[in-house]
Amino acid sequence: MKLSSIDIAKSNAAKEAVKYVRDYEIIGIGTGSTVEKFIEIISKLDEFRNKLYVASSFDTILKLTNLGFKVLSSMNIDEIDVYVDGADEVDPELNMIKGGGAALTTEKILTFYSKTRIFIVDSRKLVKKLGERCPVPLDVLPGAVEMVTKYLRDRGYEVKPRESARGRCGPILSDVGGVILDLHTGPIEKVQSLDYLLNSIPGIIEHGLFIGLADTVIVGYTDRTEVLSK
Ligand code: 5RP
Repeated sequence: MKLSSIDIAKSNAAKEAVKYVRDYEIIGIGTGSTVEKFIEIISKLDEFRNKLYVASSFDTILKLTNLGFKVLSSMNIDEIDVYVDGADEVDPELNMIKGGGAALTTEKILTFYSKTRIFIVDSRKLVKKLGERCPVPLDVLPGAVEMVTKYLRDRGYEVKPRESARGRCGPILSDVGGVILDLHTGPIEKVQSLDYLLNSIPGIIEHGLFIGLADTVIVGYTDRTEVLSK
């Protein structure tokens, strides 16, 4: 099968990330198609066989275990050496929107508690301002969905439950049992203020703004990679 230019760019970012994680023993792994390429690459490298992994989603647990990797429960660890994940948007300060795969809550926990945080993206993910292309996902307790939605709509935000394209009827549920709502903001002028607002709303388990949480972003192009660091 012929790879698209986006697939090649994602693979290039994933290949470059190998260098950044090979010296660590406990590796956190995010969710999504770019991370899937990273998993495929390390599955072919012997040095990654005896390391321990922590996954951000059920999907990633399955991908890792199906390839024979040892996956720890996050209940058994108190710190992660290095975390590798994708992102939906990255701004020039390396702030990000994540949660396109609805795994934002565990992704933020693993990111926060990792000593080193590496993100791998294709170049389409670079934006001037967060919110330009993607909504901000919210993981919301089921019993608070209507109240959170009204609260945000009253403040001028467009909020929509994320529907499954095919399969389950009704809104998408996260791995932690929340309902995924998408907050359509357009380009966000003050990300810190929105981060603060969303952190302060009871019922929101977590949201997809990742502010100041990336150490390194590896950007894949069809013919090269670019490494952005804080
Ligand atoms: C999942 C995520 C993903 O990392 C993000 O959606 C990027 O995915 P992809 O690598 O498939 O573009 O945040 O919750």
